[in-house]
Amino acid sequence: MLLNREKVDFLHLPTPIEYLPRLSEELGIQLYIKRDDLTNLGVGGNKLRKLQYFLYDALKNGYTMLLTVGGAQTNHGRLTAAVAAKYGLRCAICCVDNYPNEVSANILLDRIMGADVILEAPKEGVSEGKQLAELVARMKEKYEAEGEKVYYIPVGGSNELGILGYYECAMEITAQAKEMGLGDARIVSTVGSMGTYLGLFCGLKNENSNLSLTGVCISPWSDDPQEHVMKYFNKVKEFYGEDLPLKAVPADFDVTQDYTWGAYNNPVKEVRDMVCHVARTEAIILDPCYTGKTFYGLVEMVKSGKIAPGETVIFLHTGGLPGINTPFHRLGFEEDLIDGVTVL
Ligand SMILES: Cc1ncc(COP(=O)(O)O)c(C=O)c1O
Repeated sequence: MLLNREKVDFLHLPTPIEYLPRLSEELGIQLYIKRDDLTNLGVGGNKLRKLQYFLYDALKNGYTMLLTVGGAQTNHGRLTAAVAAKYGLRCAICCVDNYPNEVSANILLDRIMGADVILEAPKEGVSEGKQLAELVARMKEKYEAEGEKVYYIPVGGSNELGILGYYECAMEITAQAKEMGLGDARIVSTVGSMGTYLGLFCGLKNENSNLSLTGVCISPWSDDPQEHVMKYFNKVKEFYGEDLPLKAVPADFDVTQDYTWGAYNNPVKEVRDMVCHVARTEAIILDPCYTGKTFYGLVEMVKSGKIAPGETVIFLHTGGLPGINTPFHRLGFEEDLIDGVTVL
C-alpha cells in the first residue's frame, strides 16, 4: 500500500545496485547502476513497476483487457503485453506510427506475448494526439463489441497512478544506498513521459530521503522543462490530496533538455558509440532511445562539472534493450561495427 493505493506484487524486488569500477575510474566519480533493466517479466524495464498498480486497478474493477499507446517500438507497450499475458488478459497496443516493414524488436516481442499491435500512419494536418485519441476510441469500441472490458493505460503509463512504481523505487534506492554507505548520492534518471522521474521525485522528497535526482530528457518539449514537470506534479497533487502533503515549485525539478538530440528515438552515432563504450567497459547494454542518451548526458555533466569530481552517482538503468533491434538502429550499429566481423 502506497499513498493508499494497492498493487499486484509480481516483481522480485529490490533490483540490485552495482558498482561500476572501470567507468568510475574513467570518469573520476563513484558510479553505481540501479538494475531496473533486470525486472522479471517480458525482458524487463521500468514500466513494470508502474504496471503493478495499473493491474491491481484493472483486476479489482473487472477489466478483461489492457489497451495502451506509444510509438511502434514502445517498451511500455511490450511490458503491458507481458503483464497481460501473465494475468490472462487480452492486450492491444495502438500506435500512430509507420510500420517499420518488419515484425522485429518490441513489435516482435509484443506479438510473441500475444498482444495485438495496431499501427496507423500519421495523417497530414492532424495532430498526433488527436489522431491517437480517435484511434484508441475506435479500437476500444471494437474490443468492447467483442465483449471485452477495456482498461486504458496512457502513454508510458504516466498518469497519476503511474508515479507510484517509482515513488516506491525511491524508497527502495534510499534504503539500499543507506545500507551500502552511499551518503547523499545523486540518482540520474531518464525522462520520457515523466512518470519515472516524477515518481522518484515525490518518493525522495515526501519520504525525506537525502538522495538527489537529476533527470535527462530524451525528447524535446515545446515548453520550459521545469514548468512541464510542474503541470504533471500539480495533477498528481490534486489526485492524492492529503495523502501527498509534499509541495514543489518548478525550480525544484532538476531536468535537462540538453541531450535530446532534437527528436524522440532518432539514430545518433554518438549515442551508439556510448552504448558500445559502456558495453565494452562494464558489459552493461544500454539502448539507443533512452538509456544511451541519458548515459551520454551523464558523461557530459561530468565533463562540464555539473556532476562534481568524486561525486557518488546512481545511474538508473530503465531497460529498453529490444530497441537495439529497431531496424534503423540495427542498421546504424551494423554500419559502425561491421569492420570487426570477419567472414572467412
Ligand atoms: C527504457 C526506457 N527508459 C526510460 C523511459 C522513460 O520513462 P518515463 O516515460 O516514465 O519517463 C522509458 C519510457 O518508455 C523506457 O522505455
